[in-house]
Formats: sequence, C-alpha cells, structure tokens
Amino acid sequence: MREAAALLEEGALGAGLAWPLTPWSSSESLAERLASNPFVMAPMAGVSDRAWRLMARAGGATTAYSEMVSAAGLHFASEKTWELVIPDANEPELAVQLFGSDPALFEEAAAKVAARLGRRLAFLDVNMACPVAKVVRKGEGVALMDDAPHAEKIMRACRAGLDKAGVRAPLTAKIRLGRTPERPVFLDFAKALEDAGASAVAVHGRFGSQGYAGTSSISAIAEVATALAIPVLASGDALSPRRSADLLRESGAKGVLIARGSYGNPWIFSDARRLLQGEEVPVHSPWQRLSALELHLRLLEATGEHMLKARQISCHYLRGLPGAADARRGVMRCATLDEFLALIEGFGEELARRQTTP
Ligand SMILES: Cc1cc2nc3c(=O)[nH]c(=O)nc-3n(C[C@H](O)[C@H](O)[C@H](O)COP(=O)(O)O)c2cc1C
Repeated sequence: MREAAALLEEGALGAGLAWPLTPWSSSESLAERLASNPFVMAPMAGVSDRAWRLMARAGGATTAYSEMVSAAGLHFASEKTWELVIPDANEPELAVQLFGSDPALFEEAAAKVAARLGRRLAFLDVNMACPVAKVVRKGEGVALMDDAPHAEKIMRACRAGLDKAGVRAPLTAKIRLGRTPERPVFLDFAKALEDAGASAVAVHGRFGSQGYAGTSSISAIAEVATALAIPVLASGDALSPRRSADLLRESGAKGVLIARGSYGNPWIFSDARRLLQGEEVPVHSPWQRLSALELHLRLLEATGEHMLKARQISCHYLRGLPGAADARRGVMRCATLDEFLALIEGFGEELARRQTTP
C-alpha cells in the first residue's frame, strides 16, 4: 500500500489539485486565515474522513473539520473515537468538532484533544447544530440551543480544558437558527456564545426541525454577522462555487463552510475563491474527474477506511459523465480497490471511444 503523501505527490497535478499543502502559520489568527482564504471543508459525520479532507485541502479548502466526535466517547477512551480526532500525517492541522451535553466531559475532552494535537489543532468546535433524533433526545446537538446558559457553560468548560492543556487554540461553535421555527433564538444565542468566549460562530441558516429541507436563510446569517464582533462562518446550500462565493458576499460572513457541494467536487474551494477574485473558473474535464476519483479511492485505502465507502464516492465523481448510469451499476459490484480501479480504467477507455466515434 502506498503512503498518502506519495499518492498525492504523484496524482494531485493530473487531478487539478494542489500539493503540498500550506500549513497555518502559528502567528496567523483565525480571522487572518479566513481573510486570505474563506472556504472551509465543513464537518460531515460518516463522510469527512482523512481521505476526504486531504482531497478538500488539495482542492483549496483553507482548513477542514473532523467528523463530529463524542465528548463522552473520548472519556471512555475508545480508540475508534480517537480515530476521528487524529489528523492524517499529511494534514497540517485539523478543526476538531465535539458533541455532547455534559460540561465536565467537554472540559476533559477539550484538554485531551488539545494535548494530543497541540499546535495542529486549528480550532476546537462545539456542535450545537446536529438535528439527528438520537442526538437531540440526549440534549445534545441543536437541543443545546434551547438552553443558552447551559451552552455557555459548555463553552467555558472547553476553554478551561484548552487552558489546562496549555493550548491557545480558537474555540468555536456551530449552530442553526434554533431547534424549531417557533423559537428563532439564533441572534441572542450567538451573542451569548460570544460573551462566553467563542472565537467564531458558524451558522447553518436552517432550524433543526428542517433537517436539510427548504432553503438556508442568508438574511438570518447576515443578522448574526452584523451583530457579532467575532468572525461568523456561513453554512447552508453552498452547493456550487458560485453559490459559495455569493453566500460569503451576501451574508457578510468571514468564511463559508462547504459540505454537500464537495461531493465529487474537491475543486469547489479553489473555484469559489477564483470567482471571488473575479477570475474564470476552469473546466474540470472528464479525465481530470477520473484522475481525482482514482486519487480519492487510493487515499481511502491508504488511510485505512473501509472500501465500501468507495461506492458512494465513485457515484459522486461519475455523475453527469456520459455512460455514468451503467458505470454506477458496475460500482455497486466493486468491493476492493483493484476492482474500483479496473472499473475506472474501463470507463475511461469507453469515454475515449465515445469521443473518437463520430
Ligand atoms: C452527511 C452529512 C453529515 C453531516 N455531519 C455533520 C457533523 O458531523 N457536524 C456538523 O456540525 N454538521 C454536519 N453536517 C452539516 C453540514 O456541516 C452543513 O452545515 C450542512 O450540510 C449545510 O451545508 P450544505 O448545504 O453546504 O451542505 C452534515 C451534513 C451532511 C450532509
């Protein structure tokens, strides 16, 4: 099995990606970093693993979040939970997102994460946005938005944990507009987090009860961005480079989290940045897409992820290409890296035939 660094060294250029990555300078604040590149790989449980984050970083993401990590899981020191926290050797730094509800467990988890990551901890984030029923039922995720004083306690506990570890990393939270539209608490809630010492707040412009339905409210995010002195990161419907750049401009936020828009599109980060700078967005040819898919799948294996994840990833990259429907059926029969690579090669040959046949 090849090392992730060697795979990126060899495959990034052909896939239209940048390698090596630029580490954050220790003298640079979060606000300064966002000012030079505002597009961040969002947290996505079950998706934003090491391979995904390396692709996003090589595609121009300024930094990336971990998947959400249980503060209680870190208390019980399960190695499976630590797997979510420890960045790949080739990730210069990582933003770690914790979820839970007990301030004491947050303090302990913050201290442990900071001690393990040290200066590679880009920032520590508290999930106050997850709407999944089994999370909300335990008073975690977006349920925290019903109790601002408790959420403040959690922020203070995290800061105490970071201090205990002697790590001066920024502390952030990710929120929605509230749990339900009956309680649109986002503005006061975000101010409470700022008072409790948050360094930045990310706002997804939907209520918890909406899940991912409807549209994310840019105007609500803009209200928070105007009211807070700390940087606000906008989240919701950043599904293309254009929509990501527009979200930044229209919300007045200092950064944008890109989540579903990165499916099969690691270039979305640098493309959005180009648009912001008034430049043209390059066309990503089918060959570049296949090269990127191959690199992503090789990284998946190199970082020890289960190859079953490769099915979904392949479907994302193949979407919209001629012959993709047949290829997607083939993908569902693949299980090993070699089987996926053979399918990509066959698909590429078929694509070349189609292009040369009048
Ligand atoms: C599969 C999936 C997993 C997600 N997991 C998390 C998570 O662990 N923590 C979190 O704060 N948000 C999570 N989110 C929410 C995203 O970070 C983001 O806020 C949301 O998808 C809206 O952005 P988008 O419209 O650009 O996708 C997840 C979203 C998706 C689609």
